[in-house]
Amino acid sequence: MMTAGNQSTIEFKNLLVTGGCGFIGSNFIRWLMNNHDFSGRIINVDSLTYAGNPENLADIAADFKSQYIFQKTDICDVAALEAIFSRFAIDAVCHFAAESHVDRSIKTPGDFIQTNIVGTFNLLETAKARGDQFKLFHHVSTDEVYGSLGAEGLFREDTPYRPNSPYSASKAASDHLVRAYYKTFGLPATISNCSNNYGPYQFPEKLIPLVILNALEGKPLPVYGDGKNVRDWLYVEDHCEAIWTIMNAGRRGETYNVGGKAEMENIVIVQMICDILDDIQPARDGKARRQLITFVKDRPGHDRRYAIDFSKINRALNWSPRESFTSGLRKTVQWYLNQKKWVENIKTGAYQQWIEEQYGS
Ligand code: NAD
Ligand code: TYD
Repeated sequence: MMTAGNQSTIEFKNLLVTGGCGFIGSNFIRWLMNNHDFSGRIINVDSLTYAGNPENLADIAADFKSQYIFQKTDICDVAALEAIFSRFAIDAVCHFAAESHVDRSIKTPGDFIQTNIVGTFNLLETAKARGDQFKLFHHVSTDEVYGSLGAEGLFREDTPYRPNSPYSASKAASDHLVRAYYKTFGLPATISNCSNNYGPYQFPEKLIPLVILNALEGKPLPVYGDGKNVRDWLYVEDHCEAIWTIMNAGRRGETYNVGGKAEMENIVIVQMICDILDDIQPARDGKARRQLITFVKDRPGHDRRYAIDFSKINRALNWSPRESFTSGLRKTVQWYLNQKKWVENIKTGAYQQWIEEQYGS
């Protein structure tokens, strides 16, 4: 057995990371390159949708020129994937690329079916074609596949799947495909289902960064429904450590639930962010940010509560979250305050102009 976060016991020489320019993928690549004795190459495949920002990894691209390779590629493009797998002799995949926002999945579900289901299928087929040279397909998934909890109980690995949104249904489908490729074709695979992540580089459509940035601009802070929906918040670096631990020591064919031990009602989080900002950077007019809280129409099919039982990964792989929600949230707020240029580029869309100049539309 290994301790959480220990260096690789399996040698991945050419690790393909999909969606590495998004929130969790970019944190994972930075965490692996900076903190760990990883001597292989990372090939980051990302199509750079609105959520993909190469600026998230500008430091890594500069510091690890021979170890970090970026390929602007859509996982729905099979021929391009085949060329990358063969050119870089890919021996492992860590699969983050997805359409990831529930509200968007309600408006435009088709993109979720293509990327999350068809894209995952393409990756599995391409990995399978590598035969014995292929060591591991790790699939990053969500606790939302289990549906919604009432006031009591926790999601376990054997909780039945009951996805409620087009997003969670598409992730459930991709989980099933990964499992099937392990069972039917013996493709070495692991799956992690985690709770809501937060931390640096999260796109400001998700609750925490959206509230931080709106509060700084004195804009309304939209809280869906009665604000009492509960999520179990996981600091993104804790998640990175869990993924790497599973990739190295997890049993092939197994699923591991990863949670932050931090159940919070949405309204409490929004209030906490207001109070942290009032403390670090009081509003110019001196008003308390809590006055900006605005209850809005609920999300259709809004899951009431998510909470994770992470005892399997804790027992089997000795992983548990390190960050407390109070300190993690404060660190996150401070990060957004410090990253004025990053925030401005996201808000003005300047990063997308840059992508067009570099790669064409
Ligand atoms: P994100 O939206 O921030 O990033 C997704 C990345 O995937 C972007 O860089 C985007 O450009 C890329 N991408 C999208 N479609 C693509 C395609 N067709 N081909 C290639 N690249 C494509 O997402 P995230 O929050 O970093 O989530 C990463 C993974 O973790 C997803 O699979 C998501 O389902 C899962 N997850 C996220 C959370 C969370 O709280 N954020 C929780 C549980 C699970
Ligand atoms: P979100 O960050 O979109 O993640 P997910 O839907 O995957 O859990 O939302 C987290 C919670 O916050 C969820 O219960 C919906 C709620 N929410 C709001 O109340 N207001 C908002 O503006 C957003 C984006 C989310």
